[in-house]
Amino acid sequence: MPLITRSPDTGVWLLNTPRTSYALRIDESGAPCHVAWGPRLTPAEADTLVVPAGEPSDSFEGRPAVGEELPVDGGTRYGPPSLQVRYADGSRAFEWEPAGQRVEESARGNSAELVLSFRDRVFPLSVDLHYRVRSDTDVIERWTVLRSEGGHRVDLLRADSAAWTLPPLPDYRLSHVTGQWSAESRLRRERLPHGETVLTSRRGTTSHHANPWTMLDDGTATEDRGRVWSTALAWSGSWRITVQRTPDGRAGLTGGVGHEGTCVPLGPGEEFTTPVSAGLCADGGFGGASRAWHAYVRTHVLRHAEETAPVLYNSWEATGFDVDEAGQLALAERAARLGVELYVVDDGWFGARRSDRAGLGDWTPAPDRFPRGLGPLSDAVRRLGMRFGVWVEPEMVNPDSDLYRAHPDWVLHLPGRARTELRNQLVLNFARRDVADWAYGWLDRLVAEHRVDFLKWDMNRAIGEAGWSGPEGGNDLLWTRYVHHLYGVLDRLRDAHPHLRIETCSGGGGRVDLGILARTDQAWTSDNTDAVDRLGIQRGFGQIYPARVMSAWVTDVPNQLTGLSVPLRFRFHAAAAGLLGIGGDLARWSEAELAEGAALVARYKEVRHLVQHGEQYRIGEPYGEGVSAVQYVAADGAEALVLAFRGSPRHGSPRVPLRLRGLPPGLRYRDTGTGAVHHSTVLTEYGLDPELPSGDWASALLHLERVP
Ligand code: GLA
Repeated sequence: MPLITRSPDTGVWLLNTPRTSYALRIDESGAPCHVAWGPRLTPAEADTLVVPAGEPSDSFEGRPAVGEELPVDGGTRYGPPSLQVRYADGSRAFEWEPAGQRVEESARGNSAELVLSFRDRVFPLSVDLHYRVRSDTDVIERWTVLRSEGGHRVDLLRADSAAWTLPPLPDYRLSHVTGQWSAESRLRRERLPHGETVLTSRRGTTSHHANPWTMLDDGTATEDRGRVWSTALAWSGSWRITVQRTPDGRAGLTGGVGHEGTCVPLGPGEEFTTPVSAGLCADGGFGGASRAWHAYVRTHVLRHAEETAPVLYNSWEATGFDVDEAGQLALAERAARLGVELYVVDDGWFGARRSDRAGLGDWTPAPDRFPRGLGPLSDAVRRLGMRFGVWVEPEMVNPDSDLYRAHPDWVLHLPGRARTELRNQLVLNFARRDVADWAYGWLDRLVAEHRVDFLKWDMNRAIGEAGWSGPEGGNDLLWTRYVHHLYGVLDRLRDAHPHLRIETCSGGGGRVDLGILARTDQAWTSDNTDAVDRLGIQRGFGQIYPARVMSAWVTDVPNQLTGLSVPLRFRFHAAAAGLLGIGGDLARWSEAELAEGAALVARYKEVRHLVQHGEQYRIGEPYGEGVSAVQYVAADGAEALVLAFRGSPRHGSPRVPLRLRGLPPGLRYRDTGTGAVHHSTVLTEYGLDPELPSGDWASALLHLERVP
């Protein structure tokens, strides 16, 4: 069946993905309305699901609050609007007038896009709804393009990417994450309350506190079973998603850029393209939904997902700001002995940066610590067989810096008001073209002159006192333009330096979303490197984002943040669930630790293709009484990796075998560590008792290969 069809009888547009269908139509009033989203439908079946827009049942009801593709502010609509417009005369509202429909198919026929065009019946404002479906994913991408075609400014008080409607279900449950610095991605799974539930960031960035994705189910889905509808927004600035459960028992959500009170001003003739809001309906429980998202991110969001990510070393926890050529070289030599492939110098290599109080913005190597620049270190790292990376924070400035002394007007600020510092820094106004160009200029030179292979791009505070008194509407415009210019600098850098790989970081996982991942290669998951805390953080992170981007370091104990000590092996196994890195002070590692570390790095290299490119299954709860695991299975089922973890065992507590997932029945697999051969049916239906060392914080890595 074609990816997109239109019914001649009902006008229903039917969008097909491999396992699901999405149906919509333009109703009698001209408004785009939802018809269905679920398992595959034929056009004839979809036609029967059309519910004509009836008259409201009484004078207190308007149009249903859930069920339109982009509910507008206007007419008798009383739900949260996806589109809210203020015209030059101060009036508001939007009345749908259809202005065209078209389908564009990709040359190879593996994706298709539906564009429904509308205009307001009164003012010259056009709205195009875009839908993209592909033949290799059930993820549907939606976005909206708004164009002011008259001679006046139009303010988009709300310009969401899309509204998503759920089918009528007996109950609704919402899964999402909350968090804070060093405690990101806390998975919440709670009954959806009646009314409106707002998930948002007002910080100008994605934030540690919430992440712009949702999963909804009827309250009965499990990790392995049940239908889950989920959405994810590809945006790295302030955002808002309003999930709604109406008095008449329906549920849906609308989401897009900006928090309440911000707006997108459109000058005459200007256009605003919203970021993509991606949606997925998946069977197979939360695990099935996650695997579908992981595959989508690897295939359609990341640029280099097919590459094997290197094992990296990062100096931050070892040295803090105490960075110099000799010290870095000593660490690099030890890192190379461990088998590290990419050496990253963190904060402290530039300007007067000896603490977080000064130097941010002055991006030349500190003459007292790198008298010959970064060249000698970069060369030495390369001679040791590693690639070379550096930490940068291009959007920020310390007031105690040459940059700020030269350009105090470059920071976001409201004239006459305080400039509140967080971590002693202010935010550069990336919405300004000259500021973004300045950042591109020094980054381009840094990468070229020092042969930099990798940037850890940090952003260490939220936006505050956000003002831009330059252009008309600057105070409103900056919320989106800042992010567009940030994306522009990243895109230009990657185009100019095809070998460059970038890690997104914002005090850990404060800026992880589908928008930034389209411009970077991996994400620093959290500044919390405690391996036990990480099990939970990684569980939440992996709901949407794949292990291929989840950067994780092995650091020293007692952990700098939590004071907890767990075995080196446990720390390695926790980090091996993503992109393994080392962040400990190697100068203080004993010969025995270096030898154990080298063996664990070598083991990771043998199995990392499964972590980085395989399918992930989550087994058990990380903080439960028994053993929990993360499992990765090769796409062809030929190999599997199990990373198993146990906290503090209690004598006499039941030993429940781990039932593995994703292995085809009737096959045999050999444990490459012990040589033992297992039947896949026994592994998946009866389970395996992984042999864990005794004592607290025990872990195991099991690699299984199919026996021919
Ligand atoms: C942030 C990052 C850390 C480190 C410091 C350096 O907190 O998340 O990993 O790079 O900045 O200042």
